[in-house]
Amino acid sequence: MGIFTAPLVTLAVAAAFYATGIEAKCGPWPEVSCCRKLVAAGLGHSVVFPNETTYHMSLESYWSTSAALSPWCMVFPSTAEDVSTIITTVVAGHCPFGVKGAAKKEEKSGFANSISSRTGNMNETTYNSKTGIASIQPGAHWQSVYETLAPHGVVATGGRAGSVGVGGFLTGGGNSFHSASHGLGCDNVVNFEVVIADGSIINANAEQNPDLWVALKGGSGNLGLVTRFDLSTIKYPNPAKPEIWGKFISYDPSAGGGVIDAMVDFTDKAHLDQNTTSILYFGHVPAAGGKVIHLGLENTIGVADPPAVAGYRKAGKILTENGMVVPMTELVKSEGPAQPAGHRNIWFSLAFNNDARVMKFATEQHEIAVTKLTKLLPGDDGNGNFTTMCAFQPLNRVIADHGIQRGGNVMGLDYWIQKSGSHGVLFLAELGLHGAENEKKAYPIVRAWAAAVEAYARDLGVGWGWQYLNYAGAEQDPLATIGPHALGKLRAAANKYDPDRVFQRLRASGFKIPEYERL
Ligand SMILES: Cc1cc2nc3c(=O)[nH]c(=O)nc-3n(C[C@H](O)[C@H](O)[C@H](O)COP(=O)(O)OP(=O)(O)OC[C@H]3O[C@@H](n4cnc5c(N)ncnc54)[C@H](O)[C@@H]3O)c2cc1C
Ligand SMILES: *[C@@H]1O[C@H](CO)[C@@H](O)[C@H](O)[C@H]1NC(C)=O
Ligand SMILES: *[C@@H]1O[C@H](CO)[C@@H](O)[C@H](O)[C@H]1NC(C)=O
Ligand SMILES: *[C@@H]1O[C@H](CO)[C@@H](O)[C@H](O)[C@H]1NC(C)=O
Ligand SMILES: *[C@@H]1O[C@H](CO)[C@@H](O)[C@H](O)[C@H]1NC(C)=O
Repeated sequence: MGIFTAPLVTLAVAAAFYATGIEAKCGPWPEVSCCRKLVAAGLGHSVVFPNETTYHMSLESYWSTSAALSPWCMVFPSTAEDVSTIITTVVAGHCPFGVKGAAKKEEKSGFANSISSRTGNMNETTYNSKTGIASIQPGAHWQSVYETLAPHGVVATGGRAGSVGVGGFLTGGGNSFHSASHGLGCDNVVNFEVVIADGSIINANAEQNPDLWVALKGGSGNLGLVTRFDLSTIKYPNPAKPEIWGKFISYDPSAGGGVIDAMVDFTDKAHLDQNTTSILYFGHVPAAGGKVIHLGLENTIGVADPPAVAGYRKAGKILTENGMVVPMTELVKSEGPAQPAGHRNIWFSLAFNNDARVMKFATEQHEIAVTKLTKLLPGDDGNGNFTTMCAFQPLNRVIADHGIQRGGNVMGLDYWIQKSGSHGVLFLAELGLHGAENEKKAYPIVRAWAAAVEAYARDLGVGWGWQYLNYAGAEQDPLATIGPHALGKLRAAANKYDPDRVFQRLRASGFKIPEYERL
């Protein structure tokens, strides 16, 4: 159904192996000194050099080629103890490193000229039926998590595509089909096992290190490397029918304005039926004939066409409609037009009040961007050799409320809901294309599109200035947008658990705590 993610979705199959990890680089002659130090520390069996097949397979496993930079070596820990050894070794050697989850998209670069530690071998999920808690290793993909949980009749707040990795998803928020009923994915983590900068393996939960627990819920790789997530699971109301309803609707391009109005209405009422979700995107998808308007609808308790989606059904001319009531394991497999190998991606994430004017403006700016991109990248047939997504998702207040009830996080969503006094819309501008040179040339077009939307929303007084970390692109600075309160908590936790700022100074990848190094 594809709607859950991108029109470009996937290549997930290959992405499945090597999930979380670290990448590092060190001093002069780093490939020698840093990588050898890891070998000397007893990790020889898990250090992989560029002259090995595993190294290249791991690079090829990226969903987006833009993120696949070449580190000096990779290290694949198998246990929390291995991770601890890696951290103490790279810290002692002043070796820059990167933390890598399943590497789903473009991230702030920095994996090149570094050591990469990847927790892909740490991909197990175990379920405790007494506590209802799933213990998930960071290198797992949601597909395998859902498969492990299915026989127990439970599900979890995970990715809407099975190919998404656990490590990044849960440390960067995590928008799932269950967001309106259970908050973000991170809100459902009851305990993190994490290796902090001094190499110690500690737990962070409501009782032990609670400040770290809160800061890890949105703090990404800034506090340590999580080696296990203990996640609350969700029972289906009818155990005999552990199924989810999903529907994919493709509208005629003439339906645009009507569908946006329907989404505004849906978002305003999303707290009334917290089991129903929707994702809407406008896109340029050559394989689907060019301009598309796609809508994904889901109901987490398996109710087909619940009343909450009635407005969408009469919003405009529907071209195709395809519904199913299936286990989660099936739903997250059925992704739309696959993103062929070698695609590169540009992402920009924004948010604003639930306001049809901004959404309509965003789609107009999208059209302008598509026209420019078609000139730049016409392709053999002149239809444009690229795909875009101009996507909108509901940010009803109830999502933030569930987060607060579960102990709070550092996402900043509650801050923006409070400040705006409004439900919101999560916006994503995305481009998928081939070629590093093309990517460079296309960047200004996507940047201008996102900037126009941001300025328009701000001028109307409905802009949030929030960037959702998991959707933020390489040029963005999401942790600068979480509001003073969350940022204060994040900085305080970083000061306490990483006083030498290892994860700011030596971590070569991922989003950082803004203006922190200079404090
Ligand atoms: C096809 C597709 C579908 C998606 N669907 C959704 C969706 O439904 N909902 C949603 O919210 N997002 C979605 N996303 C975005 C996704 O959540 C992010 O790309 C996320 O970063 C993926 O996590 P990862 O582990 O795969 O990524 P990676 O790129 O490997 O990791 C991202 C960052 O997370 C941090 N990190 C990773 N592992 C750890 C760890 N063990 N400890 C500490 N820090 C760590 C690191 O800083 C790293 O730089 C989707 C993306 C794609 C490409
Ligand atoms: C690969 O490179 C490493 C580091 O330079 C070296 O130690 C190792 O012997 C090489 N392996 C092969 C098979 O060439
Ligand atoms: C987990 O990792 C191992 C070792 O890399 C791999 O063989 C296995 O297929 C992975 N399992 C899943 C479900 O991805
Ligand atoms: C949502 O699901 C819960 C059970 O998971 C149920 O109690 C509730 O009534 C459902 N809400 C609606 C509007 O269907
Ligand atoms: C798009 O670009 C890729 C990579 O350069 C190429 O293989 C493919 O044939 C192109 N497709 C079209 C329709 O131009």
